[in-house]
Amino acid sequence: MMGPAAQIAGDRKEANMLVHCIVGARPNFVKIGPIVRAAATSRRLRTRLIHTGQHYDAQMSRHFFEDLNLPEPDRHLDVRSGTHAVQTARIMETYEPVLAEEQPGLVLVVGDVNSTLACALVAAKAGVPIGHVEAGLRSFDRTMPEEINRIVTDALADLLFTTCTDADENLRREGVAQQKIHFVGNVMIDTLLASLPLAAERRTAERLGLVPGGYAAVTIHRPTNVDEPAGLERVVTILRALAGRLPVVFPVHPRTARRAQELGLDAVLRDCPGLHVVEPMRYLEFVDLLRTARLVLTDSGGVQEETTILGVPCLTLRPNTERPVTITAGTNELVPLDARGAIEAAQRRLADRAAPQPHRPPLWDGHAAERIVAVLEAFADGAASPREP
Ligand code: UD1
Repeated sequence: MMGPAAQIAGDRKEANMLVHCIVGARPNFVKIGPIVRAAATSRRLRTRLIHTGQHYDAQMSRHFFEDLNLPEPDRHLDVRSGTHAVQTARIMETYEPVLAEEQPGLVLVVGDVNSTLACALVAAKAGVPIGHVEAGLRSFDRTMPEEINRIVTDALADLLFTTCTDADENLRREGVAQQKIHFVGNVMIDTLLASLPLAAERRTAERLGLVPGGYAAVTIHRPTNVDEPAGLERVVTILRALAGRLPVVFPVHPRTARRAQELGLDAVLRDCPGLHVVEPMRYLEFVDLLRTARLVLTDSGGVQEETTILGVPCLTLRPNTERPVTITAGTNELVPLDARGAIEAAQRRLADRAAPQPHRPPLWDGHAAERIVAVLEAFADGAASPREP
């Protein structure tokens, strides 16, 4: 008969580590999918999907779960919108008892949204190890709420999964121990590459009555571009000028839609010839929109990465980017925040007939999630990045 010590050792060997996979906002859904799928094949890991409910509209959440073939969340915290403090606090309050009840061996957070920060804080205070996917990105601009979220989450994380080597350098500069940093590639690109065949079937351009390769796609939702009247007015000026050159498709994020309405700019957008103002798109529909665009104008982080892989010229309406590899190795360019400078940049890119080639930064190869799971398995076996006292 097995003695108690052998029994315990046997149990530990059999047991698989529970990983809480945290999602809250639209870009998180795109990143977590490949990780959950890769972990499902592991005998060392068990995952539970926790949705904070930061994004809750069907267009911002459920449609993404459907297109990405994500399992239903195991827990839904249903926190919804609020100021940064209110939203972050609500996520912390609702997640803490879930963590206490389920006792995960590790909490895995992705990206830089308020849900990322809030759940990392709860885990850190409870002494539960944290893995951060997309660690080390820095815009060096603390006016961005995402930059604060990134800095704090990385300071708390035990396993820091990076998409590029400049992120590794940022972390080392901040004093993060090398053995905590794991350069694994980009899970958002895992999803993009796996989704391209299905996305191409959506025929988004044709459905909008447009010619593939003959239109611009636009996404704008950052607080600096839409919250202040001057910012949104500048965006409207740029869109009107661009729509004078070629058709423009603008799927409008709820934050942008609300501000446009409050500032009385929604009618101007609707009535602008050549500008197709549409609802937020589903993931596959949107990827297809990007895939056959002549030009993309954005302030999103993920879109800068996706256009790099798709080889579509991208103009980023921001003074900085936390993703410099999309400029040095990709198709991205930062454009000035004055309307005239942005319009000139767009005209220059449109006049350039040489099609940019798709570029693949190192390890943006569709296999990042498998590398993350390998590190998590080693961690479960006690082999990777032991927690510091
Ligand atoms: C959040 C992330 C941002 C990310 C973006 C992707 C933070 C700090 N910001 O910004 O990094 O790029 O998600 O979309 O976490 N709203 C709805 N329905 C929803 C969700 C939001 O109507 O399903 C409206 C609400 O009025 C809300 C506003 O949009 O107040 C902003 O939502 P919020 O989650 O606070 O930030 P985002 O701007 O979406």
